[in-house]
Amino acid sequence: MKKEFALITGASSGIGLEISKVLASKGFSLVLVARSEKKLKEVCQDLIAKHNATATYFVSDLEDPKAPKAIFEFCQEKGYFISLLVNNAGYALPTAFHKTPMEAEENFLRVLGIAVVALTKIFLPNMITKKQGKIMMISSVAAFAPPSSIQTLYGPIKTFINRFSEGLNLSYNAMGITSTAVCPGYTVTNFHTASGVQQEMDRVPSFMKKEAHRIAQVAVNATLKGKRVSIPTKTFKLIVFLLKVLPHSLFPLFSKKLAPGRYNKE
Ligand SMILES: NC(=O)c1ccc[n+]([C@@H]2O[C@H](COP(=O)([O-])OP(=O)(O)OC[C@H]3O[C@@H](n4cnc5c(N)ncnc54)[C@H](OP(=O)(O)O)[C@@H]3O)[C@@H](O)[C@H]2O)c1
Repeated sequence: MKKEFALITGASSGIGLEISKVLASKGFSLVLVARSEKKLKEVCQDLIAKHNATATYFVSDLEDPKAPKAIFEFCQEKGYFISLLVNNAGYALPTAFHKTPMEAEENFLRVLGIAVVALTKIFLPNMITKKQGKIMMISSVAAFAPPSSIQTLYGPIKTFINRFSEGLNLSYNAMGITSTAVCPGYTVTNFHTASGVQQEMDRVPSFMKKEAHRIAQVAVNATLKGKRVSIPTKTFKLIVFLLKVLPHSLFPLFSKKLAPGRYNKE
């Protein structure tokens, strides 16, 4: 049986973990990437036990500029042709822009931006040679939202990812490669604790919060179909529609109830 390999960054938790499960259930062989070796090991064992999957992991901190090359070399040495690259790893910074050290901003932009570009750049040539490749970018509803007073660079970097993904489609669709920007809204994962906004997340109405396994299912289906943009669930589709048609000056009014903290944290 021909094995298709998928590489998933941020596979130790949340959306990336659920994407790994969906891909394993579809018969993909997996390379999981994150910093936590203990979690990656457990996820691999679980995927092998539950899905009879071929799964391996590579411990890597995407803050390190050398990480994308090391990840690629690991796959090359093992002889894995990655036909599906999932750029998922991410977080947001917990402190106000003026209080955040520049080094932390640089690391953030590296993990959510430069590492995504670098991984795509290094895995793309093999996809071009084989005339086959899928790239999934986990972006966010924030890519479409007006600027926020917290996590100042989060929305802009996700907008960048959407534009980057569009550019890839323009350049490489004719060569058999597609890129899908997946744009979820509030998803129940470790993200909000890791990003210092769990209290705000707790105040978000439950109809606005979705489970990670649901997001993962939609994300994988959209990517395998080669969709350009995927906004999982009707709720997030409606929000993005409203973000596109309503004046952005109205959003601080709604946000007190629907997106607490976006416009009023110091
Ligand atoms: N949750 C939401 O509401 C939401 C909404 C829209 C978009 N998103 C996006 O979804 C993606 C996944 O987030 P999530 O919600 O699933 O959060 P999560 O549960 O906190 O998972 C984040 C993943 O990224 C990995 N990661 C973080 N920093 C890393 C680094 N420096 N190097 C390598 N891996 C790193 C983490 O693993 P280790 O800690 O083991 O390294 C973990 O596996 C992110 O891009 C996020 O922006 C989330």
